Amino acid sequence: MTTDAAAAFAAAYGDSPDGVWAAPGRINLIGEHTDYNEGFVLPAALPQTTRVAARRRTDGRIRLTSVQGDGRVTELALADLAPGGVPGWAAYPAGVFWALAQAGRPVGGADLAFTSDVPTGAGLSSSAALECATAIALDELFGLGLDAPARALLAQRAENDFVGVPCGALDQMASSCCVAGHAFFLDTRTLTGRQVPLDLPAVGLSLLVIDTRVKHDLGDGAYAALRAGCERAAGLLGVRALRDIGIEELPAAEEKLPVELRPLLRHVVTEDQRVLDAIRLLDAGEPRGLGPVLTAGHASLRDDYRVSCPETDLAVSAANAAGALGARMMGGGFGGSVLALVGTDRLDAVERAVRAAFADAGFTAPFVFPAVPSQGAHRIA
Ligand code: GLA
Repeated sequence: MTTDAAAAFAAAYGDSPDGVWAAPGRINLIGEHTDYNEGFVLPAALPQTTRVAARRRTDGRIRLTSVQGDGRVTELALADLAPGGVPGWAAYPAGVFWALAQAGRPVGGADLAFTSDVPTGAGLSSSAALECATAIALDELFGLGLDAPARALLAQRAENDFVGVPCGALDQMASSCCVAGHAFFLDTRTLTGRQVPLDLPAVGLSLLVIDTRVKHDLGDGAYAALRAGCERAAGLLGVRALRDIGIEELPAAEEKLPVELRPLLRHVVTEDQRVLDAIRLLDAGEPRGLGPVLTAGHASLRDDYRVSCPETDLAVSAANAAGALGARMMGGGFGGSVLALVGTDRLDAVERAVRAAFADAGFTAPFVFPAVPSQGAHRIA
């Protein structure tokens, strides 16, 4: 086995692993802050992955190491795992062992070595990649026979209840279930979805990711406060989740809420509608129409949900001014990455314009790369 993760495994544990698995980061075409409102999302997997080389143990112990960490090996006993009890990055894979035990599927322990090229804190779901790589490795090492959605839900449980971040299912479902060459249209209430073919290069289009390098941290309380605001609004409106308010009911529903909750409602209801609009456009073979949908989504996140920041706003406006068809911030917000839909012949011009705008504003240079819809979690060796 000659993968980079296998080499890290050999360096840490002096032996070869039983297998190597990969799980990707994700982009999200549209459908932001809708997942915990039981609404719609439209992610696709990135080519960047977290790889894990793993070997079974039978003594109830876990060893974890990461090329991107400090090179140390963290050793834990399965029996001692408790929510909040593991600091740093190791909490994410440890949480998956814990979630499996909570779900009545305990495993015997394992040695794991990770490496990743998913940018961290960039709104590209590096945490989900870490969790989902662990979930598929343990599933296959121990022959659990889980399917991709089941692994995603275990990974989400690890993040919610072990790490303590109240995220929805978007990131883990994307990292586990996406299919190369497709976007994944997912109803997060029913967890049913469909793979939507997305061959943008064939029609002269590209997706450009602009990582602003402004690190976001979902654990900092702002995300939880937004989620709580949405749940309060749903309660006041007498519905299970804001997903239950249709676009035509929006004006009347707004009237029933205190002013501070109205923008949250507006964003969620219009964003669900934007996902449905995007699907209609893709099904009709009109992907260029996605551009204005993306830009409208950004305006809603900036003005109503208020999770954008000067760097994401500038990336969107500079990309659009340089000829992008549309652009928006992705992920939880307060930094992270922007997704732009760009004619392939304008890719260089858009990248140059964004870099120049960032330099003029005195911002850190962004990390810019094209996103090709790639494969969800899978075994690589
Ligand atoms: C983060 C969370 C997701 C989702 C997005 C916003 O990525 O992990 O569950 O809520 O923010 O759409």
